[in-house]
Amino acid sequence: MTNIDPQNLPRHIAIIMDGNGRWAAKHTMGRISGHKKGAESVRETVRACRELGIKCLTLYAFSVQNWLRPSSEVNGLMNLLEEFLHSEAQELIDKGIRLTMIGNIDALRETVKKVLEDVILKTSQNTDMILNLALSYGGRDEIVGAVKKVLRDYAAGKITPENVTEEYFSTCLDTNALPDPDLVIRTSGEYRISNFLLWQSAYTEFYFTDVLWPDFRRDDLMEAILAYQKRERRFGLTSDQIQDGQGKGQGNSD
Ligand code: IPE
Ligand code: IPE
Ligand code: MG
Repeated sequence: MTNIDPQNLPRHIAIIMDGNGRWAAKHTMGRISGHKKGAESVRETVRACRELGIKCLTLYAFSVQNWLRPSSEVNGLMNLLEEFLHSEAQELIDKGIRLTMIGNIDALRETVKKVLEDVILKTSQNTDMILNLALSYGGRDEIVGAVKKVLRDYAAGKITPENVTEEYFSTCLDTNALPDPDLVIRTSGEYRISNFLLWQSAYTEFYFTDVLWPDFRRDDLMEAILAYQKRERRFGLTSDQIQDGQGKGQGNSD
């Protein structure tokens, strides 16, 4: 698609990759087949973002709540994750993509944790794009974790109630140095946030599509970005103020 404005790209895109189970049911397959097919969409989306020049892509791959699914599905998902990390490592290294994660790494089984840590380390010097995986992630869980960090900083005398600011609190979250997402995409026709980036999505643009994640392709991503580029992000200001350039620095235009 040619009409994407390269000057107005979302700096950070985050995706709630939903609909693998329904895709599998539609094709009279087991749920794991849907997740397997979804891994292809992940590969294509990462490549497309890299080519477009998107600086950060966060993928919601497994929530804290997803642990409560049947153990066969949880194991299947963990196997796929492990395979994916092994098979994609070289491409991430070659393409200058840095892998990071948010969520609870210690909740993952040892073999997954090991390859994840390995790829995170091997790509840590890459600067072209960040691929951030949300694994065993929950927005509320993350906020509670941040509150614990604040209390530890307080106990250590590093912080007082007066200098707790939004900026400081942001650094206590898993996303720490990452910019807030400019665009959150959710597939599969569900209109909810499902515990994703609760703090960080305060001024995010949301894009919902009925496409099931395993069917999500490059063109669907382009459509989402085009829709984003038609929006006016006002950050609480008036439209006139935004036209005068006063919103600068709040979104991705800085
Ligand atoms: C998203 O697809 C993948 C994960 C949540 C791990 P689902 O597995 O939720 O698919 P549906 O919602 O049942 O179709
Ligand atoms: C959100 O999808 C989590 C991921 C995509 C990993 P879910 O399928 O778990 O969300 P709900 O249960 O429909 O809200
Ligand atoms: Mg779902």
